[in-house]
Amino acid sequence: MNRVVLATLPTPLENGGKLPGGSNLWVKRDDLTGLGVGGNKARKLEFLCADALGAGAKSLVTVGAAQSNHCRMTAAAGARLGLPTHLVLSGDEPRQLTGNQLLSAMFGATLHHTGLKDTDWSGLEKFRQQLTDQLSRGGSEPYSIPIGGSTAIGAVGYALAFDEINEQCATKGFSPESIVFTTSSGGTHAGLIAGLVRARAENPNKDWPRIIGIAVAKGAAMSVERISELTSQTLRLLDCTATVETTDVIIETEYMGAQYAVPTKEASEAATWAARRGAWALDPVYSAKGFSGLLGLDAKNCFSADSNTVFIHTGGLPSLFVAH
Ligand SMILES: Cc1ncc(COP(=O)(O)O)c(C=O)c1O
Repeated sequence: MNRVVLATLPTPLENGGKLPGGSNLWVKRDDLTGLGVGGNKARKLEFLCADALGAGAKSLVTVGAAQSNHCRMTAAAGARLGLPTHLVLSGDEPRQLTGNQLLSAMFGATLHHTGLKDTDWSGLEKFRQQLTDQLSRGGSEPYSIPIGGSTAIGAVGYALAFDEINEQCATKGFSPESIVFTTSSGGTHAGLIAGLVRARAENPNKDWPRIIGIAVAKGAAMSVERISELTSQTLRLLDCTATVETTDVIIETEYMGAQYAVPTKEASEAATWAARRGAWALDPVYSAKGFSGLLGLDAKNCFSADSNTVFIHTGGLPSLFVAH
C-alpha cells in the first residue's frame, strides 16, 4: 500500500510501573507521532494522504467535533503536503480560536463552522458531502475523509502499529496480555484487530493480547458488527485471508459518562493518576476516559497479576487547554 511519511515512528513504549491490581503498565506514546503536535491520526493519515495523492487530489476535506484532533492533524498533513484543507466542524464560530481550532487555522486550513451539535455525526457527515460536491464543482479536486479517518485505508496504519507494539514488547522481553486505548470512530480499533488477526494467522501458537477499546462517543461508538466489517475490509487491503472472530472485538462502553466530551469524575482522577505516575498528559475528551477504563478494568481484576498491559496514549493534548 502507498504511504507518505508524516509520523515519527516508532513511538516510545514507556514503563509505567505496577497498576493497583499488580499488572505491569506500559504506555505507548502515540501522542508523540509528531505530525501537528501528535496523536493517533498521523498513522491513518500516512495511508489516507498517499491515497489522495495517488488519486491526483488537489485538496483535502474532513469533518469532526469542534475540538477534533483528527481535523487538526489533517490540517497539519495538508500543510506538509501543500494541499489546501477544509474542515467541517460542529458548533458556531468562536470569538477567539482555541486548542485544536487555533492550531488548524495556524496550519492554514479553512474552518467551516456548521452550528451543528458535536453529537450530530450524521448531520456533520452530510455537510462534508455537500462541501465536497461544491469543491468538486469548483475544480478543487478534493479528497474527502470521513469522520476520524476511519476507513479501511486509514485503519491500515493501526494494523502496522500492532506489529510495532508487538516488536517493542518482544524487545523488552514480554508479551502483552491486553492492549487498551480510547475508541470513537473505530479506525484505530479495527486496525489493531486486523494487525492481531494477521499476526495470529502467521503464529497461531503464541499468546496474543486482547484488544480492548474504551468507547467515548455514543453516536460514533461502533458496534461489534461494524468494527468486524471494518476489520475485514482492512484485512483485504493487507491481502490477508485470515478472518476476524466476533470475540476479537471488545468495546467497553461504561466509561464514557453522560455523552461525548462531557467530563467524568473517573477520567479526571485517571488523568491525575497518569500525570503523577509518568507525567503523561491525558485530555478529558479521549485519552483520560480511555485510561479511566483501564483503571476501572484493573479494579475489576481484568488484568492478571504480573501480566503486561499496554495503554496506547492516542493524544488529544490541545483540548486540555480548552474549557470543558
Ligand atoms: C485523542 C484521540 N484518541 C482516540 C481517538 C479515537 O480514535 P478512533 O476515531 O480511531 O476510534 C481520537 C479520535 O478522534 C482522538 O482524537
